[in-house]
Amino acid sequence: MSHSRNILIGITGSISAYKMPLLVRQLIQAGHSVKVITTDSALQFVTKPTLSTVSKNPVYSSFYSGENGEWVNHVELGLWADIMLIAPASANTLAKMATGMSDNLLLATYLSAKCPVVAAPAMDHDMWNHKATQRNIEQLKVDGIHIIQPEQGELASGLDGDGRLPEPETLFTHISQFLKQ
Ligand SMILES: Cc1cc2nc3c(=O)[nH]c(=O)nc-3n(C[C@H](O)[C@H](O)[C@H](O)COP(=O)(O)O)c2cc1C
Repeated sequence: MSHSRNILIGITGSISAYKMPLLVRQLIQAGHSVKVITTDSALQFVTKPTLSTVSKNPVYSSFYSGENGEWVNHVELGLWADIMLIAPASANTLAKMATGMSDNLLLATYLSAKCPVVAAPAMDHDMWNHKATQRNIEQLKVDGIHIIQPEQGELASGLDGDGRLPEPETLFTHISQFLKQ
C-alpha cells in the first residue's frame, strides 16, 4: 500500500454486514484510518463494539451522540474522508441516495462528502433485478458513484442468483485499486 488514507465506511441493513469487520481490519492492517457510520438497521446485523474495536474509532449511527445534545458533525466526517465506501448498500439506502434523501447520519454524510464514493449493493436476487433498483443504480452512476457489482451465488434467502456482497478480500482489492487511481 503506497500511503495511508482516510476511509469512511457506511454500513446498511443487509445480512452481509457480517463481512464488514473483516474488511475494516484488513484496511487498518494496511495502514489506513477507518471511521464507520451505520444505519439503525445495520445494527441488527453487526455490533458497534466489534466495529469500534477493529476500526480503532468510535462508530457513529445517529445525529446525536449523547444525552447532552452533542451532535455528530456529518459535514466534518464527509470532509475527513479520502474515499467513502457504502457496503453493504441496501436497496433502501440506494433509493434514498438516488433521490437525495437525508433522514439519517449516513445519508447526510453522503450528501456532504466531496470525496469519491463507492457503493457495493447487496440484496436478494429479485430486489437487485427490480426495475426500481436498477433505475436507482443508473441514477447513482450518472451522479458519479462507483458501483461494485454484486456477485452471483447462494443468497441468505436460500435462493441462488445475483446480489451477494463480494468477500472482504475482493472489496479490499477494489478499494486498493481505486485508491491507486
Ligand atoms: C434478515 C434480513 C436480511 C435483510 N437483508 C437485506 C439485504 O441483504 N439487502 C437489502 O437491501 N435489504 C435487506 N433487508 C431489508 C433491510 O434491512 C430494510 O430494507 C431496511 O429498512 C434497510 O434500512 P437501511 O437502508 O436504513 O439500512 C433485510 C432484512 C432482514 C430482516
